[in-house]
This record gives sequence, structure tokens and C-alpha cells, in this order.
Amino acid sequence: MRSAHLALDPDHTVGPIRRELFGGFVEHLGRHIYDGIYEPGHPTADADGFRTDVIELVKGLGVTTIRYPGGNFVSGFKWEDSVGPRETRPRRLDLAWHSTEPNEVGLHEFAGWLEKVGSELMLAVNLGTRGVAEAIELLEYSNIPGGTELSERRIANGRREPFAVEMWCLGNEMDGPWQLGHRSADDYGKLAAQTAKAMRMLDPSVRLVVCGSSSAHMPTFGEWERVVLGHTYDDVDLISCHAYYEEQDGDLGSFLASAVDMDGFIESVVATADHVRAVNGSTKRIDISFDEWNVWYNSRFEQVDKLAGIGNWPVAPRLLEDVYTVADAVVFGNLMISLIKHADRVASASLAQLVNVIAPIMTEPGGPAWRQTTYFPFAITSRLARGRALRLAIDAPTYATGRYGEVPLVDAVATHDDETGNSALFLVNRSVDEEITVRVGVQSLGDVQVVESHTLADADVTAKNTLEHPDRVAPQRNTSVRVEDGVLTVTLPAVSWTALALGRRGAS
Ligand code: AHR
Repeated sequence: MRSAHLALDPDHTVGPIRRELFGGFVEHLGRHIYDGIYEPGHPTADADGFRTDVIELVKGLGVTTIRYPGGNFVSGFKWEDSVGPRETRPRRLDLAWHSTEPNEVGLHEFAGWLEKVGSELMLAVNLGTRGVAEAIELLEYSNIPGGTELSERRIANGRREPFAVEMWCLGNEMDGPWQLGHRSADDYGKLAAQTAKAMRMLDPSVRLVVCGSSSAHMPTFGEWERVVLGHTYDDVDLISCHAYYEEQDGDLGSFLASAVDMDGFIESVVATADHVRAVNGSTKRIDISFDEWNVWYNSRFEQVDKLAGIGNWPVAPRLLEDVYTVADAVVFGNLMISLIKHADRVASASLAQLVNVIAPIMTEPGGPAWRQTTYFPFAITSRLARGRALRLAIDAPTYATGRYGEVPLVDAVATHDDETGNSALFLVNRSVDEEITVRVGVQSLGDVQVVESHTLADADVTAKNTLEHPDRVAPQRNTSVRVEDGVLTVTLPAVSWTALALGRRGAS
């Protein structure tokens, strides 16, 4: 049997785990809002039309900040359409997803839903078809307590207290040719700097995210970040990264190593941001908002082109409804490990997305809601990863991948919470056919025991949860784990993700 060794030391801190690392993303796309979180008439709908079964699942996921309302959608969005009396709100064409947006759920309703699920709002402004003026108008509407035209309009629309939104995205994926209002790095950088300056004049407390690249494989990657930050360095706080992974050409080995790509992406953006800092002679540090990440079968995605036609603009069509396997969830869990490993510079992250659209939660109109395989690594990691991220020394065998060369079979990260004294370990075994025994030196944690263990694996790595079989896949307790003489030993099945919670022996 193969084996790997990890050394864990609570003094080897990477950085604090900010709760925003476990954020989500809700876009007006497909059945995310309509027939997803909002379905008046559903047996579980509350008085506001929101499905309470979905609310409970979102709460269980433990998502902190939720980015809204897009995504590609935001680049054609008029925020004013989404507020005020519902009966007067316009139905609009959404060019990004070739759909009709009825504006039944808008800023107020979504903020109300966030209160029900216990998450915070992160807003994106439209820098595709709009600009500085509309961005500061939305900020005034959202954050000014009262006494001005737009803040009073908010109050008249039923919300006395400001929404007090702290995190703002300056547009979405402006490097992408598919984006409404797509611009060069130079043009976008200038517009983002002007918008950021104006927004800060209105509310200096906002935290601003400038658009980085839509993926590390964009032809402009690297140069985009350098030029955009060259214009905006003093005016923004974070730069975004977006990444989606999928198994291609049946190459499961490469797919399982997707987090290697995410590691490299983060490290390249950090290097570029720090280069601009050096050039500017600045002492300020720009962090990362990894505000779209997931497994997404882009290649299987029912192309929006299929909806083409001047008379064909459906409301809430079924789009991007990927059904996730065990292997997908293992990669997903590994992407979370990568985010935590970079907690010093990844200050915020948003799982894209939440319900029905490349989502951990699925619903059927009039029917049930259920958890996809990816739900479990998110919910468990968000709950257990507290305090500080710890750097592990990993000594593991490697394997050859088509896409990333030689890659360690085991990836892992640990966390430690100084308040409770609890620690957690998150591990993946990327081997497609062999289990691996991992030994972890935990002496420096004191006399600890394993208080929880969860392993997601299956003899059939393509197993999924579906409407017909909603509970086919779930993590199991790992019965192999033990701690003896300061060494934790655990066996990881092939293609598996594992989380272990450690507590001091004798602590309640
Ligand atoms: O999450 C789906 C889409 O992916 C988003 O709308 C866009 O920002 C990205 O290309």
C-alpha cells in the first residue's frame, strides 16, 4: 500500500481564515432565482415566495457572503428595474443568457432572503453597458441612511435601514469577449479607477474588487492584471480570479489534479499584484477575491445559442444544470484546500453558484430540493475550517498527469483555532485506483483525539445524487483513523476527499 507523511505544526501559520472565504454567488441565470430559491405556490414557500426547504439547505451549507446579481447578467442589468412596486417593474431581455428577466425578485427581495439564510450581500455594479454614474447611484441607494433622493427612494420602497453593503465588484469578467461591454485592460482599468474613486468619495468604507482574468488560460492573463492594477492599485482592495474545472477527454488523473492549476493561478496573480506594488513604491497589499470557482462542464453546457431567435426569450430556462459525481466532489474539495492554503492572500471567495445553476443544491418545481455531491465538502469545510490556516510539510508519492506533469497523489491543508484549541485536517487522495495511508505528526498539538471524520468516496466515482436518488452519495465516517503516540494515521480510499476534526482529549 502507498503511504504519505505530513508534518503539522500550529506555529506554521499561512494566514487567518476570513469567513468571506466561504462565500457563494447567486446570479439571475436559468432556474437560480425563479423556480430555485423563489417559487411562490411551492408547498414549502413562505409568505415572501421563498422556498423554505432551499433556505434550510443554504443554511446547512454555511455560505457567508453572497455575490449578486451576476456574473454575465450584471453587464446588462439596470438596478433601478429591480426596485419599487413589483407591478410596475419592467420585464427585460437578458442578453447574456438569452432569457427574459421579470424583475419579480430584486435588490430588496434578495436582501430579505439573505437575512433568512444568514448571509451577507456582496454587490456587483454594471460596468458593461453602464458606468460611473449608475454605480454611485446604486451605492447611494444602498448605503446612504437617508435625506437624499435615492436613499429616500429606498426608504419609500420599504427599507428604512441602509443595506450597508461593504464588498463591491467593479463589473464582471471584463476581459472576456463574451461580456457585454468587453474592454481592453487599458480601457477597463481607467473606467474601474474612475468608478472606484467616485464610490469611495461617496462611502469610504466600501471594499472594492477589480476584475482580474476570467481564467488563467485567457490569452491576456497576467498582462491584464498588470495593466488593470497599474490604473487602479491605490483605489481598490482586491482583484478577482475566476476558475472552472472539468474532466476532459476521459483524463480523470489530470482532472483530479485541477487544484494544481488553481494554486498556480493564485500564486501568479499574487506575484503580479506585488510587482505592481513594487513599481508603484506602495506599501499597500492587494488581496484576491476568488469570486467564481467550481467544477463546470462547460463543454456539456447547453449552449445559449440554442435559445436563439428573436421571439424566444424564456423566463428561467434550464441552463448550466450540471449533475455532479463523486470525482467532481473530490476535485471540488481539493479546490477548497487550495483556497485555504492561500488564506494569506485569498481574502474572499465565492462558490459559483448556489441553486440549480452549477450548484450544490438542486430543486424541482413543485417538488423536492436535494444536495449534490459537492454540497458535502463545502458544508463540512466551512464549518470546520476555523482560525488560522497552517502550512503542512507534505511528503507524498507523485503521479504523471497529461496536463500538469508530475503531481503529488495527496494534497492537504490544516487549520487551527486558538480560541477553542480545535484543529482540522482536509485531505484528498488523487489516485484513481489505490488507497493511501497518511501519517501525520500531530505531537505539537498536544494530546488530541479525532472528534469527527468524514470521507467522500465511492466504488463508482461517477455516482451522483439525482431527483430519483437524492441520497445516493454522502460522506461516511472514516473508521481507519487513529491517533497514537502523537501520530495520526488515516487511510484514504482512491479518489477521495476527507475532513478530520481534532480536539484536545478531555475537552468538552
Ligand atoms: O457562473 C457562470 C458564468 O461564468 C458567470 O455568469 C460568468 O461570470 C462566468 O463566465
